[in-house]
Amino acid sequence: MRVTRRAASSAADKSDTKANAATPPVARVATPSAPPAPQAQVASAPQAQAAVDALPTAVAKPRVARRLTRPADDCDQTGLLAGKKALVFGVANDHSIAWGIARALHDQGAKVGFSSMASLIKRRVRPLANSIGSTFVEACDVRDDDEIRRVFERWHAKQGNLDILVHAVAFAEKEDLAGHFADTSRDGFHTAFDISVYSFIAMAREARPYMAPGSSIMTMTYYGAEKVVPHYNVMGVAKAALEASTRYLAADLGPSGIRVNAISAGPVRTLSAHGIAGFRTMYGAFKEVTPLRSYITIEDVAGVAVFLASPLSGQTTGEVIYVDGGFNILGLPVAE
Ligand SMILES: NC(=O)c1ccc[n+]([C@@H]2O[C@H](COP(=O)([O-])OP(=O)(O)OC[C@H]3O[C@@H](n4cnc5c(N)ncnc54)[C@H](O)[C@@H]3O)[C@@H](O)[C@H]2O)c1
Repeated sequence: MRVTRRAASSAADKSDTKANAATPPVARVATPSAPPAPQAQVASAPQAQAAVDALPTAVAKPRVARRLTRPADDCDQTGLLAGKKALVFGVANDHSIAWGIARALHDQGAKVGFSSMASLIKRRVRPLANSIGSTFVEACDVRDDDEIRRVFERWHAKQGNLDILVHAVAFAEKEDLAGHFADTSRDGFHTAFDISVYSFIAMAREARPYMAPGSSIMTMTYYGAEKVVPHYNVMGVAKAALEASTRYLAADLGPSGIRVNAISAGPVRTLSAHGIAGFRTMYGAFKEVTPLRSYITIEDVAGVAVFLASPLSGQTTGEVIYVDGGFNILGLPVAE
């Protein structure tokens, strides 16, 4: 699946440039253009369907697949998510995973709204929202149930129903992302769980009345939920709870036709990630050991988010899907 980008928005282009400057280079191998296929093998979908229709009726007729993606310049009307409406929590800046997802949802035809911390809205979030023509931008501190409820009520009042909900929010105190896990304070534990886990449950609850069958909810997790990652500490335990919450919510909301999944991303250089002691060292080594030998970008994560938001994943719920270049399959990550 290809996530296409609109070329039109100059503001978006500027933020791309910034993001690329701060994101380590990922080897982009130019794909050599394939030699032209012999004419006889090239058939348009209508031609192929006509050939199938001409088969004797006793022979089972295979279905000819329709094209699922369209060229970038008309994907606003005809993308995978045309007509869908999405609300994205967690954009801090143009390096945020939430921003990568928002842009990709938009590129596939979805109408996207944003909710972020009040302090980020004016300088960071609104310019990004403007760059994709989004007018719905609401402040919310996810520690407050009333604020969460208000965002969804305003969404409903202005936009009607909701098809896609993206939760890309996490926080732990800096001192709890360094040193020993055993030293985690009670307050630090509460804070990490309140912001990084409970907020997901609260959002799903508030979104539910406005979501029709076929809707999709997703959150962002990390491998530190399963295995010990140095300094990830309380956040690893919070992510384990977030992944369990994903399964419980999926079971709760499944009968209403609402799917709930989590994306487990490999390390991405974002504001939050830099709060983890030793992130730079871990990040540097990642490319040398992960099977696909590449850093993870917000576009990589966004591709799977588009899949989870779309009917292509219509029977997938309660899952944790990795976007980590295969890192999680390794028993002993060793650089060559
Ligand atoms: N960056 C990585 O390496 C990585 C890897 C796997 C998973 N994730 C997860 O992806 C998600 C997005 O993080 P990111 O890396 O894009 O970093 P980010 O800093 O860009 O995003 C984190 C967001 O959480 C928001 N937030 C924190 N406390 C909040 C509160 N009280 N109320 C409302 N919003 C609040 C921040 O404002 C910010 O927008 C997080 O859940 C993170 O754990 C990140």
